[in-house]
Amino acid sequence: MASSPDDLKARLHGLLSEFQAKIERAHTEQELRKVFADYGGSQGAIRVAQKDALKEAPNAEKKAIGQLSNAVVAEVERALEGRLAALHEAERRRDLERTVDVSLPGRVRRLGHLHPTTLVRREIEQIFAQLGFTVAEGPQIETDFHNFEALAMPKDHPARDMQDTFYIEGEPELVLRTHTSPVQIRTMLSGPPPIRIIAPGPVYRKDDDPTHSPMFNQVEGLCVDEGITFADLKGVLLHFAKRFFGEEWGVRLRPSFFPFTEPSAEIDFTCAFCAGSGCRTCKGSGWIEIGGAGMVDPEVFAHVGYDPERYTGFAFGWGLDRMAMLRYHIDDIKLFFDGDVRFARQFK
Ligand code: DAH
Repeated sequence: MASSPDDLKARLHGLLSEFQAKIERAHTEQELRKVFADYGGSQGAIRVAQKDALKEAPNAEKKAIGQLSNAVVAEVERALEGRLAALHEAERRRDLERTVDVSLPGRVRRLGHLHPTTLVRREIEQIFAQLGFTVAEGPQIETDFHNFEALAMPKDHPARDMQDTFYIEGEPELVLRTHTSPVQIRTMLSGPPPIRIIAPGPVYRKDDDPTHSPMFNQVEGLCVDEGITFADLKGVLLHFAKRFFGEEWGVRLRPSFFPFTEPSAEIDFTCAFCAGSGCRTCKGSGWIEIGGAGMVDPEVFAHVGYDPERYTGFAFGWGLDRMAMLRYHIDDIKLFFDGDVRFARQFK
């Protein structure tokens, strides 16, 4: 078959139309690339046609044949690129439509909020800060010395039983602190009076029933200086009760015993559930017990090297979660530790 450049041109033109029709029908990149290889590849139909034409052509026409074929291959390549871009664009649009409906209203993000115990702790810290008290901390894994011994509870002391203790296996001198009172010891050992601190934090006891949790929070208070009296203790507690609960609030101190204070007292606040008129929670008394207090025992001063002839001090301690229960009228301490957001969300 005679093959002039015109014949070749016609044949290549036919191949180009065939190619264009096929890539229109190809719907994946893989299909497209296969079609391209069949036409524009080094073994493809265009190069075959070029070879056939070259075989019979006089030398003078060979250059034109080569240029013509290259031009058609270039066109095939452009068509391929265009089709690939269209395919990718269609894919992208499909993805967008599948995952993002831009007409949907946005989701409102819930703001986080503080736990009631944290709210109450911060408020307590603030009230005491205005009286010159700073916040002190101590470790939750405590030594027997700080938790008991220095607080006038030697190894055989019956008061140790009041606080059923978690010991650490193989470490007879370490305990999970049973109260925040060891922070008193750490603070006094760290420097001389005057001292005015409160120490909030978790404590641990082998207690587990509807009103007790094996982990709960306490707040400790300690004030040591020259001339501190029991009247200062009562004044500070009364000030706190009025600031925290309300002006009409009262404080009652009942004689009690703690090894590390002398004299010692139980602290009662006006019942928050009935504002003092008497209810089931306060068993009709109008008062509710919130913790213990007293004047620092000289024996404690001896353990930290303070001169009991020169200094006196008061201390107090109460349950932080219990304080939050009174504040928010919550009757089950377990609610504080369950981590149920429906509970926590109610406190702003
Ligand atoms: N640490 C005592 C307890 O957990 C509470 C307490 C009583 C603390 C009297 C004090 C205090 O600072 O003076 O049972």
